[in-house]
Order: sequence, then structure tokens, then C-alpha cells
Amino acid sequence: MNLTGWRISRLALLGMVVALAVTAGCERKRNQTGGGGGSSGSAGSAGSGGAGGSVPDNSPIKIGHFASMTGSEATFGQSTDQGIRLAIEERNAAIDAGTLKARKIELTTEDDAGKPQEAGTAVTKLITRTKVVAILGEVASGLSMAGGQVAQQYGVPMISPSSTNPAVTQIGDMIFRVCFLDEFQGQVVAKFAVEELKAKRVAILFDQGQPYSKGLADFFETALKAAGGEVATRQAYDTNNPDVGAQLASVNQAKPDAVFLPGYYTQAANIIAQARKQGITVPFLGGDGWDSDKFEEIGGDAVQGSYFSNHYSPEEQTPAVVNFVQKYKAKHGVAPDALAALGYDAANLLFAAIDKSPSLSGKDLAATIAATKGFAGVTGEITINADRDASKSAVIVKVDHGKRPAIKRYPAE
Ligand code: PHE
Repeated sequence: MNLTGWRISRLALLGMVVALAVTAGCERKRNQTGGGGGSSGSAGSAGSGGAGGSVPDNSPIKIGHFASMTGSEATFGQSTDQGIRLAIEERNAAIDAGTLKARKIELTTEDDAGKPQEAGTAVTKLITRTKVVAILGEVASGLSMAGGQVAQQYGVPMISPSSTNPAVTQIGDMIFRVCFLDEFQGQVVAKFAVEELKAKRVAILFDQGQPYSKGLADFFETALKAAGGEVATRQAYDTNNPDVGAQLASVNQAKPDAVFLPGYYTQAANIIAQARKQGITVPFLGGDGWDSDKFEEIGGDAVQGSYFSNHYSPEEQTPAVVNFVQKYKAKHGVAPDALAALGYDAANLLFAAIDKSPSLSGKDLAATIAATKGFAGVTGEITINADRDASKSAVIVKVDHGKRPAIKRYPAE
């Protein structure tokens, strides 16, 4: 696109949306000249800043969020969205108050209903229709993998707040995360089982339809053996088949000291409730996928006293956590779960990069995100490494009647 692009009517532009999306950098560049000096015109996008060069662009910067706002993991998307929106509110209020000189942020959220295909569509929409400069999401690793392919293809940076499967950031140089990975999480739960609970023979029951669940089961198994433990039995279930009676019978027969269940909260809570009915009384252990208030709502007494690894505990007394919990509670009436905290951190980290980046082209923005070091988040300090991942500590929390006391923290490797 060149200068004449400015004269094309909005209607015609709309018609060209799909074609333009391929050279999306061009359109995005128009929004970025606020800092004065205009576009430095990186290769291929000739002088788009020219026409408006002397007029500072104060229009909001558009970012996108793709999320499971509905479906069986709905609290993942909802909590993350609330965390992101709190970060945006604070930034935009600081601009209004004159304490921050920057452009406001405008968020568009697309619901993917927890389905991989819809995650891809959501990201396509955000990029080609809404023309966002960056994307936040997803929570579930399988959905980040689907959406991430699209973001990478269009060259639009994406930060997953909470996807822990290694494959997510392996998609390419546009994809980042601000949380720990499942290899570390698996080690943490295995160590906790063997060293703290003295549970050596652990059964594994995982969802073979979720990359997150399968990956975490594998990492846990390796770590359990390395810690001197033993797999009592390994059983798989299907995302879409709620009947796990046969698998639970096998678990019962194996007489484990504990059961590791790396699924998402709705299914995990239902499975634990069913397990108790089948006479399984040993402790259940999980990963971050259990983190939802619904876990206890669904599981009731059956899930009390279980443990899972997580990114943070709202009960922790560090100033950053206390301050965030207070602000979030005042707004939403409930304590923020890890999704909300990670959404808040991912958004703030993105804003810091937006403010520092020489332009809002995907390439410049990705390079600026990649250079993030020692960013002070609610969930800990975030440094983006060469794999576009973050190395963070993990905490084992206990499910305890609406509370999530932190039982043991494991430092980042
Ligand atoms: N780590 C999970 C995944 O990759 C998502 C998740 C993160 C769920 C944090 C709950 C809390 O699929």
C-alpha cells in the first residue's frame, strides 16, 4: 500500500480486508505514528506515515483476546478477560489523569467456546477484521496451538498468559508465554507427591484429547520415576466421554497411594466425585488446569484436601499479590484465580512492549516483547528467554473450602 491508499474510500477498504490482512503490517503502521517522527518505513511498507506525519495519532491501539468465554472451561476465559480488562482500565485511567503519556488500549474479545477450530477463526477475525496489533490468549494449550498457527502466519505477536505445553511457543517467533512449562510443573507435583505426601505409587489418569493433559501426564511420569516413585497404573479418558467407570475400577485395583489427574476443572471434579463413589479414598493431585471456583462447586466434599500446582495463590502475602487481590475483589467481588493474575501480567507486559517498541509492526513488537527482562508481575518476575518462554516458580496449593492456601513453593529452575 502506498500514499494513494489514503484516498481509497472506507467502503472499498472494507472490501479489501482479506487482501490487506496479508500485508497487515501496512495498515497497522498507520496507527503507530503518535510518537512523532513518523514511520521509519521498514522494508515493503513505503512511507505510510507520510500523510499524517505531523499529526500525532491518539487513536486507541487495538489488541485482541481469544478465549473460552463459554463452554466447559468458561471460567478460564472469563477470569483471564477480567484480569486483562483491569490492566487496561488502569492504563487508560493513568492516561486520562495525565500521569502516563501513551495511547490508550482498546480490547476486542472473541469467544472460542473452548474449541480448537473456533480458536483459529477467532484469531483470524481479530487480525483481519479488527486489525489488532497483538493478541492475548489462550489458556488451554490446545487452543493456543490452534490460534497461534494463525497469529504466526499473519506475523502478529501473541502472548499466551497461561498455556504450559512446550509446543505452544515452538510454533514460531511471534508466539510468547508468561508462565512456566509443563515439564517443570510435572516435576513439582511429582516431588511433592514423593517427598511431602510420601506417596510413591501414583496412578495417572489423563485426558487423551487435550495436549495439555497428555503432555503433563508424560512429564509427571518421568519425574515420578526420577524421584524414586512408581506408576501404579496409567489410564486415559476421552474429553467427550464422561464415563470413566472402567478406568476408575483399574485405578482402584492398582491400590495407589495417590492419583494424578491432569485435566481441566469440570471433568476433573466430576471424575473425583465419581472416584469417591467407587471407593477411592486416596488423595488426588492435579495441575494448574484445576484452577477454578467451579472445581469445588462441582466436586463438593469429594475434592476437599486435594492438591494442585499453580502459578500463584491469592492467599500469598507479598505486596504485589495483596494489592492485586484487593483491586480485583473490589471490582468483581471474588478473589482472582491464577488465570486473572496471568491475564493481568500478560497485558501489562504487552503494554510495556508497546510503549517501548520503535513501531507497532508485528516484527518490531515481537522483538521488543522478546527482549523483556525482569518484568515485575503479580505472578512473579518475568524474563522472556530465547525460546520465548518464561521461567517462573510454582506453588502447590490445597483445595480447602473455598481457600487455596499455598502449601509449598518451588523456585524456578
Ligand atoms: N496450563 C493449562 C494449559 O496449558 C491452562 C491453565 C493455566 C489452566 C492456568 C488453569 C490455570 O492448558
